[in-house]
Amino acid sequence: MLKVVRLGSVMKIKLGQYMIRDWQRDDVPSLAKHANNSLIAMHLRDGFHHPYGRADAEAFIELVDKQDPKVFFAIASQTEAIGGIGLGLGIDVHRFTAELGYWLAEPYWNRGIMTEAVKTIAQWGFDRLGLNRISATPYTTNPASARVLEKAGFEREGILRASVVKEGRILNQCLYARVREDIDC
Ligand SMILES: CC(C)(COP(=O)(O)OP(=O)(O)OC[C@H]1O[C@@H](n2cnc3c(N)ncnc32)[C@H](O)[C@@H]1OP(=O)(O)O)[C@@H](O)C(=O)NCCC(=O)NCCS
Repeated sequence: MLKVVRLGSVMKIKLGQYMIRDWQRDDVPSLAKHANNSLIAMHLRDGFHHPYGRADAEAFIELVDKQDPKVFFAIASQTEAIGGIGLGLGIDVHRFTAELGYWLAEPYWNRGIMTEAVKTIAQWGFDRLGLNRISATPYTTNPASARVLEKAGFEREGILRASVVKEGRILNQCLYARVREDIDC
């Protein structure tokens, strides 16, 4: 059962001993520390680059602060931000869809944290934002992310061939999606 606490515009969803919550200004040091990792940046878009410093963290949190609705969140322990998860909302005919993105600090990998975060934010997107469909497109060089999506109930719909140029290499993306349970099509 999803446990959501909303205090005005503040959001906090418990994930066992971790949580999904709004980014805060005092997350800048932990964001700059954990995001500064080429093993993370290589799987993300170029906006999340390596090296990643304090100024990048400040700019990101300032950007998120202006979002309405807020759709980029921190994954956090009791003491610091340890990752991020967000929904890029579609527009026009895609306005009931979103694209999911996420990353986790390397010391926390392979403990099931992101699988829980993805399940939780997908349900939140369907319930709170009224989304019909949530997709994600990990590069085919990222089997850990594909596994997370499969464990979180996303279906593999196909391969987007040569759809990305990352760090000078042409890559394929794997298209995964989950559709709201009550939709029949
Ligand atoms: C991908 C990422 C989010 C996974 O987070 P996580 O909390 O470690 O994920 P989980 O622990 O929930 O699940 C990871 C699964 O991948 C598997 N896995 C890990 N490395 C793998 C690899 N090289 N090949 C195949 N499977 C792998 C794990 O064994 C686990 O599956 P299992 O439970 O069946 O054993 C994290 O590694 C990360 O932030 N990577 C860099 C950024 C990124 O890739 N973001 C996603 C962009 S689409």
